[in-house]
Amino acid sequence: MRLNRRHFLQQLTYFTATAATGRALFGQETMTVKGAPEPLLDTSALARYVDPLPIPEMLKPSGLRPSPENPASKIPYYRVSMRQFQAKAHRDVPPTMFWGYGGACPGPTIEVRSGQPVLVEWANELPNRHFLPIDHTLHGADKEKPDVRTVVHLHGGRTPPESDGYPEAWFVPGQSATYYYPNQQEATALFYHDHAMGITRLNAVAGLTGLYLIRDDFERSLNLPNGAYEIPLIIFDRSFRPDGQLSYPVSGRPDAPWVSEYYGTAILVNGKIFPYLEVEPRKYRFRVLNSSNGSFYRLSFSPESEVRSEALEFVQIGTEQGFLSAPAPIKVLILGPGERADLIVDFSARAGKELYLRTASAMVMQFRVSSVKSADPSSLPTTLRPIRRIPENTAATTRQLTLSDYQNRLGRSKVMLLNGTHWSAPVTEKPLLNSTEIWSFVNLTDDSHPIHLHLVRFQILDRTPFDLSVYQLTGKIVFTGPAVTLDANELGWRDTVRVDPMTVTRIIVKFEGFAGRYVWHCHMLEHEDNEMMRPYVVVPA
Ligand code: C2O
Ligand code: CU
Repeated sequence: MRLNRRHFLQQLTYFTATAATGRALFGQETMTVKGAPEPLLDTSALARYVDPLPIPEMLKPSGLRPSPENPASKIPYYRVSMRQFQAKAHRDVPPTMFWGYGGACPGPTIEVRSGQPVLVEWANELPNRHFLPIDHTLHGADKEKPDVRTVVHLHGGRTPPESDGYPEAWFVPGQSATYYYPNQQEATALFYHDHAMGITRLNAVAGLTGLYLIRDDFERSLNLPNGAYEIPLIIFDRSFRPDGQLSYPVSGRPDAPWVSEYYGTAILVNGKIFPYLEVEPRKYRFRVLNSSNGSFYRLSFSPESEVRSEALEFVQIGTEQGFLSAPAPIKVLILGPGERADLIVDFSARAGKELYLRTASAMVMQFRVSSVKSADPSSLPTTLRPIRRIPENTAATTRQLTLSDYQNRLGRSKVMLLNGTHWSAPVTEKPLLNSTEIWSFVNLTDDSHPIHLHLVRFQILDRTPFDLSVYQLTGKIVFTGPAVTLDANELGWRDTVRVDPMTVTRIIVKFEGFAGRYVWHCHMLEHEDNEMMRPYVVVPA
């Protein structure tokens, strides 16, 4: 096996990096577009803060249907069609063609109550031709397969296997699939997105993503900012051609156009580049989702429209799978692909001024705070939902699972594997229903990978640096230091975990909910599409 060429170099410099996480993340946030053959629109030169932030509409049910679990009871039924449409990403960019749920990108927000099941019919009404470069050499995307295939996954949902959007359960234009979501889980922000085998990355760039909010009584009792004061911020990056159309880079090999990562030149929020939002001087709740293909963001709020300006403190109250046990004051939020954060930002000290959302390398959006004092009856409690740490000794099994990157002679990634196995290899992860396991991810690559398991929520145990060259020679894990301290916002319930380079990252998971076949994968979609995804089976006890 040939490992990444930069490993040894990076190993030398690794401990001089400010934080074990910092280096790789900054690297991934750069705005280079690999192998782009076409000229791109210089989005950094666009006028800033000229478009108001769009708010995705709330989806209304189209009626009631019998519940598949109990036909005597009727449950809300929604229909969402995937359609091609044009939208303006910025005042000065010509209209862009997207594919979106409900003909919008992001798609409509679906809001449900915990414990109240719903049915969603996902209808593929897209054209028969893809407008982004399919790589037919990738598994599941061979020439015999139709170009346009879709399947919808509710990310973070505790969903029965037949409604989970298995990557091979795709359907083509003219077809639809009706999925059952029991919503038996705590209040949080999930998101729905495409998951079709071998082309997920392209369907995602085309625009197939949307938010799914689960509400519960506990959340209501907290009296958090709500209504007009609770705002989704769905963040993703894209590159555009000068004519305003989406650009997706290619490898330079016409028969195998796959590239290993997609980083767009522009960061969009709710579909706009450099939007602004008018706010009142009071608390707001922001439901942040990073639905980028490959970018990790280091998000912060600044008093000036300057990447290097000061970072002000804000508060995180929840992670992917719900509330933290207490609000965590932070200045920088690291958010990887597929990750969500529930934030409270208090604008009361900024009346009459602006505030900006930025990453470590780019401005994202502006908040214009009105000077008129407004009442703020919402609260920020000092404690939220208690989180019981899962004791390590309850784990029935520990699985050691590697992340690796295989390169060609030019040092370009060819394929990335989980535990050295391809998608089509027999299932190796077969936890028993209701059992607890520790999954220990050994990252042999030089990038951070956001690893996501379907069906379950989990807790991060630790992240510990190890000696890669010893591992390569002997297959043994020798730690080179103590575990890295987890960020306060990593101690909540997660469904995605950042597995940093040259670390062993351990999570503890209880496989609850349903038995059946699911997947786990890297949420960098270029990796996922090229074998960094594996089926796993929850076996009935
Ligand atoms: Cu959001 Cu299997 O993914
Ligand atoms: Cu990856």
